[in-house]
Amino acid sequence: MPIEDIHEFIKELEKNGELKRVKTEVDSELEIAEILRRGMYANGPAILFENVKNYDMPVLGNAFGSIKRLEIGLEMTDFTEIGQRIVDMTKLDIPSGFLNKIKKLPELSKMTDSFPKHENSGPVTEITSNNASFDDMPILKSWPNDAGRFITLGLVATKHPETGVRNLGVFRMQIIDSTHALMHWQKHKRGAQHSEISKEKGLKIPAAIIIGGEPATVFSSIAPVPEGLDKYLFAGITRKKGIKTVKCKTIDLDVPANAEIVLEGYVDPTDIREEGPFGDHTGYYTPVEPYPTFTLTGIMRRKNPIYVTTVVGKPILEDAYIGKVIEQSFLPLIRMFHPEVIDFSMPPAGWFQGIAIISIKKRYPGQAKKVMMGLWGMGQLSLTKMFVVVDEDVNVHDINDVIWAITTRADAARDTIIINNTPTDTLDPASPLVNLGSKMGIDATQKTKEEGYDREIQQQVKVDEKTKSIVDSKWSDYGL
Ligand SMILES: Cc1cc2nc3c(=O)[nH]c(=O)nc-3n(C[C@H](O)[C@H](O)[C@H](O)COP(=O)(O)O)c2cc1C
Repeated sequence: MPIEDIHEFIKELEKNGELKRVKTEVDSELEIAEILRRGMYANGPAILFENVKNYDMPVLGNAFGSIKRLEIGLEMTDFTEIGQRIVDMTKLDIPSGFLNKIKKLPELSKMTDSFPKHENSGPVTEITSNNASFDDMPILKSWPNDAGRFITLGLVATKHPETGVRNLGVFRMQIIDSTHALMHWQKHKRGAQHSEISKEKGLKIPAAIIIGGEPATVFSSIAPVPEGLDKYLFAGITRKKGIKTVKCKTIDLDVPANAEIVLEGYVDPTDIREEGPFGDHTGYYTPVEPYPTFTLTGIMRRKNPIYVTTVVGKPILEDAYIGKVIEQSFLPLIRMFHPEVIDFSMPPAGWFQGIAIISIKKRYPGQAKKVMMGLWGMGQLSLTKMFVVVDEDVNVHDINDVIWAITTRADAARDTIIINNTPTDTLDPASPLVNLGSKMGIDATQKTKEEGYDREIQQQVKVDEKTKSIVDSKWSDYGL
């Protein structure tokens, strides 16, 4: 049975030696963040802080900070299954004719199992109030020069004002006072799009901040799913079982029934204030930028909720592991549009939007550039600053193999493309303007005659089978 909530997740993590409890009193101002960072940099366990100064709510951090914990949370070891399920759904043609329909029923019911299920109440509706305050929650201040306390792992629910498609995105929120916060949804993200459409209609956008929920729902919020795909459905596809939802009390939005806390309210796209600085994923403080204001109108929560959080900073921290799962789970979707793609890697040190490496099976001249251009047009991959394309014999997850390919198969003038004035990740500290900069593509595939490479392709060094087997059979005799 899939894990239903954070409490079940904690039990599973503890059973697997993946969680430690801290009973010493700790401060949500700077201290918890530093403990979490030390643990994350040392590949340590998830930590449940049970005694947080001035709050009666425990704090959970680093819950998703290893591949093992993500395997436990999402109950799978091969994350490509997630993308493959979406690809399979697109192939599920509904045949005409009664008998054919009956034959397809098991596949169809598998699909409907993933649909969200609406409930009248759930664990998160144990306490509801219109009198909500951010002050009741142990929201962390992470870095000394942060502008204040930030919610860092809130799943922000909105719905498309025209299509009604529901979104969840993890967008940090800077607390301004007990009922106001700044919503850091970057320009290219769906939450920001929803807000802009509302603004054009002269409306504020209802938004709910969800703390906790099924591990698959947390993952779904961070995943850059294809446009138009409901994130609640994506969470259900990930865990092979639909999540339960309930209605908010003060706004018209559905939220996960198994959440710990739901903060209801709205974002006013015309009430823009200065957000930041904030110690960010890149390892730098992102400077002050204008973002819209969220107003709290109500709260739903469990009687004994757990506040789930994370800290970000110079990689590699907790978000790196979530990024690795995204990389693997989206490979089948990339292959659906670019079937020549063999493998794909986003090295975490490049904070996921900095650099990606793609291996392909090249069949025709210029194909590496075709793949780069295609990926720069695909969802959030459009924000990736550099692509390196290699042949299928190169392991994209081995940076030494990649450097070998770049330095032996790419000529700087011939095989590098630079495209200026393209969208960049808002966080990129190097781009000349916020949200606008350039792309670099390196075609590190072996060039062919058709691609104008007139020299003879050099043969790769490789040991012959006879020598190999002699050395294999005598290896223990050498005394090495
Ligand atoms: C810990 C963490 C914090 C994040 N903070 C932000 C943020 O403040 N603003 C933002 O736009 N994206 C942030 N993201 C990335 C988004 O959650 C991600 O791009 C997601 O796909 C939301 O985009 P979508 O709503 O378009 O799907 C964060 C991701 C993680 C893992």
